[in-house]
Amino acid sequence: MDLLNPPPDLYGRPRADAFIRRLTAFGDRYSPALGGPLLRRNPRRPHSRPLPPLQLVVTSRRRPAADVVELQLADPSGGPLPGWQPGAHLRLTLPSGRERHYSLCGDPAERRSYRIAVRRLPEGGGGSVEVHDTLHPGTRLTARRPRNGFAFCAEPAVLLLAGGIGITPLLPMAREAQRHGLDWRLVHVGRSAGTLPYTAELRALDPHRVVLRTDDEHDGVATGAELLAHAPLGAAVYCCGPAPMLTAVQRALDASPAASLHFERFGAAPITDGRPFAVRLGADGPTLEVPADRSALDVLREARPDLPYSCHQGFCGTCEVRVAAGSPDHRDRRLTAEQRAAGALLPCVSRAAEGETLVLDL
Ligand code: FES
Repeated sequence: MDLLNPPPDLYGRPRADAFIRRLTAFGDRYSPALGGPLLRRNPRRPHSRPLPPLQLVVTSRRRPAADVVELQLADPSGGPLPGWQPGAHLRLTLPSGRERHYSLCGDPAERRSYRIAVRRLPEGGGGSVEVHDTLHPGTRLTARRPRNGFAFCAEPAVLLLAGGIGITPLLPMAREAQRHGLDWRLVHVGRSAGTLPYTAELRALDPHRVVLRTDDEHDGVATGAELLAHAPLGAAVYCCGPAPMLTAVQRALDASPAASLHFERFGAAPITDGRPFAVRLGADGPTLEVPADRSALDVLREARPDLPYSCHQGFCGTCEVRVAAGSPDHRDRRLTAEQRAAGALLPCVSRAAEGETLVLDL
């Protein structure tokens, strides 16, 4: 799954991203094992020296479902790769220089290759199309080591809810749950069976624990209550899919048998309490209005289409710009107090007070 340049919904239709995040406390506790917490950094801890990027080569490519390409990536020398845990993702630098995050969907026990699966999104930001059109066996890539912001805590009872290509982080969780003898269920929803990858692989784990729920057979999209009805009593729910699905699950959680919810969202975080403000490109540059319901990054990219970005959620740091004047409302989960004081700003999530103008070094 491309975490960063996702479909607007399961089927690529535009949607409002009005999602309220609910996350249980387990995730952060678990993630340091391999890759460390993705979402928070202790500002008092000095920065560790960044590790060199991984050099990878595409070793195989196939189509596990309509519009989905699966790639195996390996070290060109054939050596072992850094380990990872279910829920981890890989930040790939594509040949164009675009950076995209893809969930690892193989088996963590397989140390000689990483497996990713990407759905083609013609209306997206270009990353998925580039993967489909340009990555073939022999293509060389660089990547950051796997990181995990969606750690699997192996609770005794688990419900895995996947929307379309959102199956990718959940497939290794299902394998882990089966390996540990947990009471697990997995529900995979999508438009039709032909659009859902990895059905045979999931059923091979335990066919009685896997439910395919397709819109063409059920006359429409599943409700949150319908999805959560599959939860064992007291289950921890892990959900990865489009915002409407996550919203439906979050709203139905309290009335369900499930006890907690962990989730990973496709694409941009919702804007909460957004107020209109402005950004100026340089001291003498044009001033751009940022409406209450749009990010500064989206507005900036209309004027500067080459402005890089990746996660759209304030954790990767790719979109960092420098503020020369003005008082930002920092909403990211990456910058330290020192970096903010030095003028760093992540415009994918950070904003300013109503009427404020941020002057950017651009
Ligand atoms: S795009 Fe990742 S922090 Fe802004």
